[in-house]
Amino acid sequence: MPTSPSLKGVILAGGTGSRLFPLTKITNKHLLPIYDRPMISYAVEAMVGAGVDEVMIVTGGTHAGEFLRLLGNGHEAGLSRLMYAYQENPGGIAEALGLAARFAGSDPVVVMLADNVFEQSIVTAIDAFRAEPEGARVILSEMADAAHLSHLGVAKLGDDGVISEIVEKPADPPSRFAVTGVYCYESSVFDVIQTLEPSGRGELEITDVNNFYAREGRLRYDVVQGFWGDAGESIDGYYVVNDYVREHGANRAPSTAGA
Ligand code: G1P
Repeated sequence: MPTSPSLKGVILAGGTGSRLFPLTKITNKHLLPIYDRPMISYAVEAMVGAGVDEVMIVTGGTHAGEFLRLLGNGHEAGLSRLMYAYQENPGGIAEALGLAARFAGSDPVVVMLADNVFEQSIVTAIDAFRAEPEGARVILSEMADAAHLSHLGVAKLGDDGVISEIVEKPADPPSRFAVTGVYCYESSVFDVIQTLEPSGRGELEITDVNNFYAREGRLRYDVVQGFWGDAGESIDGYYVVNDYVREHGANRAPSTAGA
């Protein structure tokens, strides 16, 4: 499969993991096990499966060194180059992404939250962005459960394959399409992050980045097939992902997925 060498990956693995406390008192959330591997392994595998082999991991907190112990230079996992950045304070997902600005340079990036696990490979969506690496592109997951949607970002769909707005943790979800933790951006994203103001919870929010592109009519999307889970959402969500992966695996190649 020909891949663009210029699309770089950023895996975000910081935060306090407060929703999984006290498990996260003694380790970083993204090092907790999902079935037989530390959680972040699935995000690395998703990147490699999508043909992204230059990755930066942004982490923080007191267990950051364990990522190096686990992944080293990344070669064993299939990466050609693995870099690390350290977020001093839990200032939000968008602030964490901002630490990858020099790594990305003028290249587009695919960003993945390290607590997200997909049944099927994300390669189709990433290839769609490679074909047109402009604005932003996110992966959505359709879900029927309105109560679950209210814990996530939810997309309002506009015309022509664009998202008109993302509403974060909506009491009344505007659609059934949850925003997963995979986001593709042109390199202007690092300028957009500079313009953000902290939210009510004192963080720079990735949804504010996405809504910047939505307002410009340049936020596109793909809808993922198969299971998607956010293992950091709650302790029950963590076990839903564990049970699913134990039974069905993750990051299955498109040709075998859904079989
Ligand atoms: C974040 C995003 C949210 C998205 C979710 C997916 O939420 O803000 O839009 O649906 O990741 O994992 P958080 O997990 O920070 O609450």
